[in-house]
Amino acid sequence: MGCSIGVSFLLRLASAVAFVGTAAVTLDAHAQNLERGRELYENHCQKCHTAKVHARKNQAALSVGDLRDIVNRWQSNQGLRWREDEIEDVVQYLARTRYFFTTLR
Ligand code: HEC
Repeated sequence: MGCSIGVSFLLRLASAVAFVGTAAVTLDAHAQNLERGRELYENHCQKCHTAKVHARKNQAALSVGDLRDIVNRWQSNQGLRWREDEIEDVVQYLARTRYFFTTLR
């Protein structure tokens, strides 16, 4: 009996450890995506404008939704054929480092 309590405790401990492990991997993957967003932006978008265009007076992107539409338009206009997750990486990179939107969805 003492032994079965020990086993269920160990199982719970193991699943807690697995959960923390998953959270750490998720955070890591997230950081990598922002990094990929930065690279895509620097390699394909900065030939026309610096990041200053994202802080101009009559800013076109007023929300993440606007930004997503505009980024999608530009990548398509440039014939880049970015996948949806690549567009999202650039959107999140700009939203966090340039626009400072409070809502990021
Ligand atoms: C051919 C030149 C050119 C390229 C390449 C280009 N842009 Fe732009 N972009 C502009 C110009 C010019 C403006 C400002 C005028 C406008 O809004 O149409 C602009 C504006 C923007 C805005 C709106 C800024 C605001 O006011 O909030 C975003 C966002 C943007 N670009 C993202 C991108 C992204 C992402 C890429 C790469 C896929 C890209 N652009 C590539 C020329 C370019």
